[in-house]
Amino acid sequence: MRVRTAVIPCAGQGTRFRPITRTVPKELLPIIATPALQLVLDECVGAGIDHVVLVSSHDKPAIERFGKDAEQEMAGLKISIAYQDEPRGLGHAVGCAREAVGDEPFAVLLPDELMSGSQLLAQMIDVCERTGGSVVGLKRVPMHEVGAYGVIAPAGDLDANGVVPIATMVEKPPVEDAPSDLIIIGRYVLTNDVFDLIERLPPGAKGEIQLTDALRQQAEAGPFHGVLSRIGRHDTGNPLGWLTAVVDLAIDDPTVGPEFTAWLRGRLG
Ligand code: G1P
Repeated sequence: MRVRTAVIPCAGQGTRFRPITRTVPKELLPIIATPALQLVLDECVGAGIDHVVLVSSHDKPAIERFGKDAEQEMAGLKISIAYQDEPRGLGHAVGCAREAVGDEPFAVLLPDELMSGSQLLAQMIDVCERTGGSVVGLKRVPMHEVGAYGVIAPAGDLDANGVVPIATMVEKPPVEDAPSDLIIIGRYVLTNDVFDLIERLPPGAKGEIQLTDALRQQAEAGPFHGVLSRIGRHDTGNPLGWLTAVVDLAIDDPTVGPEFTAWLRGRLG
């Protein structure tokens, strides 16, 4: 079945970005002059998505306003809003989108990760449509970093396209229990049965409803793949990562890039 819908969880409180997030949701912080969330919508459209579900909370009305504007400006993209008013975890956030998604497979994009294009998502959609199973984006990290992420256990070797079958996975394991150095990045393409699994989940790591716990059940029951990302990625979920993303994109920006780079060189001596 074709993947045409994407869910973007946007209900987080943005505590790492206080005080700006008292007035501006972190998803709308500017990357030069573009809200970060706009770049995630562009990634969706580039991968063939035509329906986006923003999972927001009622105390972030700017997200809904942004969604309405973006729908008018982006021909052919429908934007729906679903609400998650309590911070009960990523699995719970995805579950809140169930009605808006309907009965189809769907993508999930975490908006505090910015990718340099749509290639990874497009490839993941292709793998899901071919195998009929869920797919996660992967990155290799130094072993001491794995504890901050979902970590997968591969069931075989990576092929030439970076695709690997997955046997199981675990959320934020202590390093000695981690099954590999392959972490799940914030890009998912999921079969619809995940919604039933999420509804039955007990709280997991950090007392939250963890998406990884539902995906582990899928991986242990049927086909499940990872795709190793080969494109640029910025983690903008913390102030340093956000700043790095802005500087990196500014250097390549056709309008401000040349002058900014010259200034930066001078500033650094
Ligand atoms: C979430 C997921 C985790 C994944 C990570 C990617 O964690 O639960 O499995 O590796 O996103 O950024 P969070 O960053 O919300 O703690």
